[in-house]
Amino acid sequence: MAVKNIITVLKDGPLQVQGNFRVYNTIGELVEYEGEMLLCRCGASKNKPLCDGSHTESGFTDSCIVDSSKGETSEQATVLVISCRPDGMLVAKGPMIIVGTDGQSKVIRNKAALCRCGASRTKPFCDISHKKIDFKDDALLSKTEEQ
Ligand code: FES
Repeated sequence: MAVKNIITVLKDGPLQVQGNFRVYNTIGELVEYEGEMLLCRCGASKNKPLCDGSHTESGFTDSCIVDSSKGETSEQATVLVISCRPDGMLVAKGPMIIVGTDGQSKVIRNKAALCRCGASRTKPFCDISHKKIDFKDDALLSKTEEQ
């Protein structure tokens, strides 16, 4: 069976996730969704891990192609699990196709660390720049303060 889980990197915008997937926030809660999900990758959303359109306001720009030579093979059609690391990357585990902002370049992966702070120089992948910019998942902070 072919891989049906697709993460499309949208130009100057979020990651679009489609297929059979689950997303968990930094405290392990399942993020509810219907259909496709848009995940923030600019770091500015006030509703992380979801995109709230803040990339437009913040002036986030990014175009990237993905290198298919770094791909893996996968014939499984199983669930893709995406977990938010506290003040860090999105860790995606499971079969997925990652599509670049050009809509043409793509790579099959079974595991990926994806940038959600907006600062990586290897977008869509994390290069640990979140530590340099002291990225904070503010949405989670306000949520834990409410409890
Ligand atoms: S989350 Fe952006 S570099 Fe790691």
